[in-house]
Amino acid sequence: MLLRVLGTAAGGGTPQWNCACPGCTGARRHPARRRLHDGLALQPADPGAWFLANATPDIAGQLESHRTLLPDAGQERTPVVRVVLTDAELDHTLGLLRIREASRIEIWCTEPVRKALTTRLALDEVLSPYTALRWNDLPLTGAERPTDIGGLHVSAVPLSAKRPRYAAGEPAHPAWSVALKVRDPATGKTALYAPALASWSEPLEQEIADSDCVLLDGTFLTDDEPPRTGFSRRTASAMGHLPVEGPNGTASRLCGRGGKTGRRILYTHLNNSNPLGDPDDPAHERLAGLGLGVAADRMVVNL
Ligand code: MLT
Ligand code: MN
Ligand code: ZN
Repeated sequence: MLLRVLGTAAGGGTPQWNCACPGCTGARRHPARRRLHDGLALQPADPGAWFLANATPDIAGQLESHRTLLPDAGQERTPVVRVVLTDAELDHTLGLLRIREASRIEIWCTEPVRKALTTRLALDEVLSPYTALRWNDLPLTGAERPTDIGGLHVSAVPLSAKRPRYAAGEPAHPAWSVALKVRDPATGKTALYAPALASWSEPLEQEIADSDCVLLDGTFLTDDEPPRTGFSRRTASAMGHLPVEGPNGTASRLCGRGGKTGRRILYTHLNNSNPLGDPDDPAHERLAGLGLGVAADRMVVNL
């Protein structure tokens, strides 16, 4: 399968329209540092059967920058878009409104995510005059059989009960935020996509060990980055994002799991305050020493 990285930024993107922090200013000065909201397109052996992992506010431009995601010459329109969601966050779902020109949008997500999108955001009501939304259950790894989307087997690893801010009144549920596991039965290769990692768990560790490519929450480099940069008064972990470095960081847990093992482990969902947005930051070298890396917009991973 091909994994097309459509974007690698956290909510707001880099640069963020109302921000003049060093990361946003640097991205305005150096266009190669720009990052669109994080999302993926996954392509099985049949390239026409692609689907999206998350639908970001940047989705239309993200599709435009990958020729194989556009309608073929002679085909008038892309009639159906398939989208698998990791959560109900606005940076991962607002793109559903942007692709309303499709005649149908097939969505796979967990139950609390569907409820938030249909009741709090009223997506069914708002979009029904434009397109047909079809909701499908996203099966949980281990408990249920994966679902087949265009020849790829997809399931979800529950990660946390972290709700979007607009759904704060909704009940707790262990699958508000999940990692997507995508396996190509033709090759046996597996990708894991977890852009919002609030806590570490044994099942997650096992899924990482079973994967050939892992795209992981790299929102903040350190736990104190949000208060230190004035982004938020809360720490990274209090915001539902384990930091990359430091005592509760994910890098030390992942040390030796990437690199020479052949497994690619790449951070994504970078906030614009994250020093990793600067390619010259010494943190890149520290991560490389652990066999880890940072995903780039428009990169294609061939699994
Ligand atoms: C998150 O990743 O924590 C959310 O997307 C933040 C937000 O956009 O409010
Ligand atoms: Mn986000
Ligand atoms: Zn900024």
